[in-house]
Amino acid sequence: MMLQLDQVHAYYGKSHILHGVSLEVNKGELVTLLGRNGAGKTTTLKSIMGLMLVRSGSIRYKGENILGRETHQIFRRGLGYVPQGRRIFSRLSVAENLRLPSLRQDGEKIEWVLNIFPPLRERLNNRGNELSGGEQQMLAIARVLVSGAELILLDEPSEGLAPLLVGAITDTIRELKKSGLTMLLVEANLTMASNLGDRHYVMAHGLVSREASSQEILEDVELHRKYFKL
Ligand SMILES: Nc1ncnc2c1ncn2[C@@H]1O[C@H](COP(=O)(O)OP(=O)(O)OP(=O)(O)O)[C@@H](O)[C@H]1O
Ligand SMILES: [Mg+2]
Repeated sequence: MMLQLDQVHAYYGKSHILHGVSLEVNKGELVTLLGRNGAGKTTTLKSIMGLMLVRSGSIRYKGENILGRETHQIFRRGLGYVPQGRRIFSRLSVAENLRLPSLRQDGEKIEWVLNIFPPLRERLNNRGNELSGGEQQMLAIARVLVSGAELILLDEPSEGLAPLLVGAITDTIRELKKSGLTMLLVEANLTMASNLGDRHYVMAHGLVSREASSQEILEDVELHRKYFKL
């Protein structure tokens, strides 16, 4: 098991947001985290990255308890995070964005990500704010990969993208999976989630309510009524 959350309780100040979240991600798996707006998906990813106040429970990564560690230490152990709303450096070029996270200036890693995201190679000298939404999402993921992440947390990569670009991002995430990367993916696009995910967790009210198969995510009317329809 690569990542394991057990009974995690997290708070924003005095607001108790996560009420005992438990989940697991095995090496090489792509696991999705689904649920309505406000269910606690982003808060779960932030808790893993040491960005939330977690008062009880445990978070283990590669057998080690990472709860209470600083975000940069967690990042250095190989956990990557691509936040909701794709944060890239809009005034820096694509090449500069990719060189920035890697202290070792690992040219091989940059070459590897450019092979996974060919559109970025053609845009190396363009600034971040000159890229399309899909290219910005690719760059946000590529930056995390260059840093040497072994498990990446992706928060709604398809958000705000045109359907064609959702297809392109889906294809690249599939490529990453083939290359052996482990991923925990938060998605609102259930078609994309069911296409990519090996397993699915459904969250509601700060808890993982159940696990579901890809087929259930697509077709289970009861599940939709209970967890996805407004
Ligand atoms: N900065 C904050 N301060 C206080 N409460 C917050 C903060 N951010 C989120 N919350 C609350 O925490 C709960 C969970 O939010 P979270 O962002 O984890 O949901 P989510 O499942 O990621 O939703 P979405 O699908 O809209 O991204 C919500 O009730 C939200 O109002
Ligand atoms: Mg969110």
